[in-house]
Amino acid sequence: MKSYRIAALPGDGIGPEVINQGIKVIKALETKFKHLHFEIQSLPVGGQGIDLCGMPVPPETLKGCQEADAVLLGAVGGPKWDNLPNKQRPEQSLLTLRSQVVGAFANVRPASLSNSLSHLSCLKRENLGQGIDLVLIRDMSAGIFYGKPSGRESRNGEAIAYDTMSFFQSEVERIARLGFQLARTRKKKLTSVDQANVLENSRLWREVVSEISKEYPDVEVEHLYVDNCAFALVKKPWLFDVIITEGMLGGILSDVVGGSVGSIGMLASASVGSSKKGLFEPIHGSAPRIAGQDKANPIATIRAVAFMLEYSIGLTKEASFIERAIEETLQEGWGTYDIVTDKKKLVSTSQMGDLITKKILQNT
Ligand code: NAI
Repeated sequence: MKSYRIAALPGDGIGPEVINQGIKVIKALETKFKHLHFEIQSLPVGGQGIDLCGMPVPPETLKGCQEADAVLLGAVGGPKWDNLPNKQRPEQSLLTLRSQVVGAFANVRPASLSNSLSHLSCLKRENLGQGIDLVLIRDMSAGIFYGKPSGRESRNGEAIAYDTMSFFQSEVERIARLGFQLARTRKKKLTSVDQANVLENSRLWREVVSEISKEYPDVEVEHLYVDNCAFALVKKPWLFDVIITEGMLGGILSDVVGGSVGSIGMLASASVGSSKKGLFEPIHGSAPRIAGQDKANPIATIRAVAFMLEYSIGLTKEASFIERAIEETLQEGWGTYDIVTDKKKLVSTSQMGDLITKKILQNT
């Protein structure tokens, strides 16, 4: 019997509803694969942490996450805590967990949409080609969001604001290696995205990626300017495998990809560092307007579970059972309110979890 520890942090708004579906799926895997055991510890975080213990990441939560093999998070935040100072808000927990639990330097976001689900995409059928199956990796330790100095002041009676983008060679190297290693396990293609026609940072980025590519002769590498990449993602998304880029550029590209696969309720992401441990979550927030109504799409969270099992725990076969169950459920037309096209096939959060769980148990 193999046992794995998972810290499950439901958080706020729709967080608990979607996390429950993720846990349902983990339990189904335990039933199906008798040699697996998951020890799931549910811990407060975000607004729930503030309400129960006076802080977004209570010490017990931090300890539980540090001792776990992987962390699964629902979502944090909501109007109830919006007036708190920035450093005390629920969203602060994301930064704490990323830095103190996983030492994260990258955000990894897989996105897939098969041809048979092309109706979910905002792209035209002919632009989906062979379907979407890519992973976008954004730096989350350097780049414009993190550079210093950053600020605002008055000069000669006029306001001026500034931000800084700076990368050490080693910071580009670790993102590049992460990208190449992932590409090696997939379609063996890496696209490095920059703005090297303008930015000195991007020129260093490109040089370093080219140098690291020599360690991965089996992976094809291409360099694209970010504007060109955005266009290609809309025109020929099936040509991409793994994409690596700076944080702000990646943030914009990731929303382009988000639209291509349908709903915000369908995409998962992971914050990862140099170990296999990661913080896995749906990309969406706590969606306060639909919270508590059993309406939210749980697929992003269920995909976060699949990603977690594959990336942090090495259960590739088990993860593929989850992905297949999601695919088949969607192909049958079932959908939560954000993706359903036939009203007769509208299901709730928990019903969607049940349908996917049933498929996992049935499939061989
Ligand atoms: P949001 O992602 O919560 O919602 C954006 C829109 O998408 C809303 O219309 C919402 O109803 C819909 N939506 C989100 N998830 C859905 C799902 N699973 N199924 C169906 N529809 C879904 O973003 P918003 O409204 O900007 O933020 C709400 C709160 O969440 C804020 O307090 C924000 O700070 C927090 N937030 C937390 C994040 C996290 O925990 N990682 C990420 C983003 C926002």
